[in-house]
Amino acid sequence: MKTLERLLLENKAWAAEKLDADPEYFSRQSKDQSPEFFWIGCSDSRVPANEVTNTEPGEIFVHRNVANLVVNTDLNLLSVLQYAVDVLKVKHIIVCGHYGCGGVKAAMTQQSFGLINKWLRNIKDVYRFHRVEIDGINDSEKRVDRLVELNVMEQIHNLAKTSIVQKAWANRQGPVLHGWVYGLEDGILQEIITLDHTYNVDPIYRFTSDELKD
Ligand code: CO
Repeated sequence: MKTLERLLLENKAWAAEKLDADPEYFSRQSKDQSPEFFWIGCSDSRVPANEVTNTEPGEIFVHRNVANLVVNTDLNLLSVLQYAVDVLKVKHIIVCGHYGCGGVKAAMTQQSFGLINKWLRNIKDVYRFHRVEIDGINDSEKRVDRLVELNVMEQIHNLAKTSIVQKAWANRQGPVLHGWVYGLEDGILQEIITLDHTYNVDPIYRFTSDELKD
């Protein structure tokens, strides 16, 4: 059987199974969504948000890109973020990286990969901030894994720099920001960093309370 046909057949089987277990499943799902979590993860096919957290459709709002970056000119990310924070009013935002990330690995080389070079540049900047620490690690895989962790921390701080998060922190003391790293080898999520509304954003990135009003 062709691979693509398998996907459609599996879909029919999945839908039938869901209905079997709960006849109201899809009529309930089709009404609305009110996820408590917003997940910003890597596009890597091995780190699907719902599967690694054993959650159901409807529980996690998801945005994924190469190496789970929060880039302040990325209209796509910012639109999803704004919707998640202002409309869905999620309680938690998770930036989830993963050890052995291909995007991070690529950014640590001098190889040119085409258009994606421009995206990977953001990771090279994180490397530059932490060059001494990373270059001090002997093992090349461990160097990548440390940059994976530092990259997640940087993206959490990038979230805290947005007016979207600062406004929500001022108005409703949420959401809480969580930086996690997933282990491809053991399937375990490690907590790396947590920031909430009490976090003191560096003054140069902090908007005054007047600016944060609608
Ligand atoms: Co990755």
